[in-house]
Amino acid sequence: MKDKNNYRIATIALAIIWIGTVGGFAYFFLFGVSRLGPDGREIVNVTPGEKQFVLQEMRQLLEATQQIHVAMGKGNREEAAQAAESVGMGMVEELAAVESTILFKLPAPMKKLGLGTHREFDNLAQTIRSNATDSQVMEHMGQLMSRCVACHATYRLP
Ligand code: HEC
Repeated sequence: MKDKNNYRIATIALAIIWIGTVGGFAYFFLFGVSRLGPDGREIVNVTPGEKQFVLQEMRQLLEATQQIHVAMGKGNREEAAQAAESVGMGMVEELAAVESTILFKLPAPMKKLGLGTHREFDNLAQTIRSNATDSQVMEHMGQLMSRCVACHATYRLP
């Protein structure tokens, strides 16, 4: 009788540990590791190395938008399209090969916003290569950049 009870307790304990582990992983997958900063933005807890990695990616995004402006200004559509593609989904694949653990640390909505931004740069390249007018290209770019604004307003790094 006592043995039976011990089994039952052990089973329940294992179940609790299992739920805790799976639940913990699910929580971090969905919400990432973050806390609220003094300015109301969420601070995403990444390591110093990962921070450098993200910021470097950011500077590439800024550079690409600058190059697109210059190329569009010169009327060189192909150059502008290539600048957009340089930060498209191809860039994500390259980054993921080097640094994949960081993807587990970002909150799901941030990840979605980030991946969507790279996808949108590929779409922008398509718009630039199409017979869209310059102002249509600029409008697309403005829409794309609302993602930069939204993410920066919500998240920051430690
Ligand atoms: C998914 C979220 C996200 C998106 C989308 C995003 N950024 Fe960022 N960016 C960040 C975070 C987080 C930081 C760090 C901000 C902080 O800690 O205050 C940052 C920082 C930067 C920096 C500063 C880099 C440095 O060296 O300090 C630049 C420049 C930048 N972003 C440009 C862009 C541009 C341009 C876009 C859009 C084309 C963009 N970002 C889209 C999250 C994002």
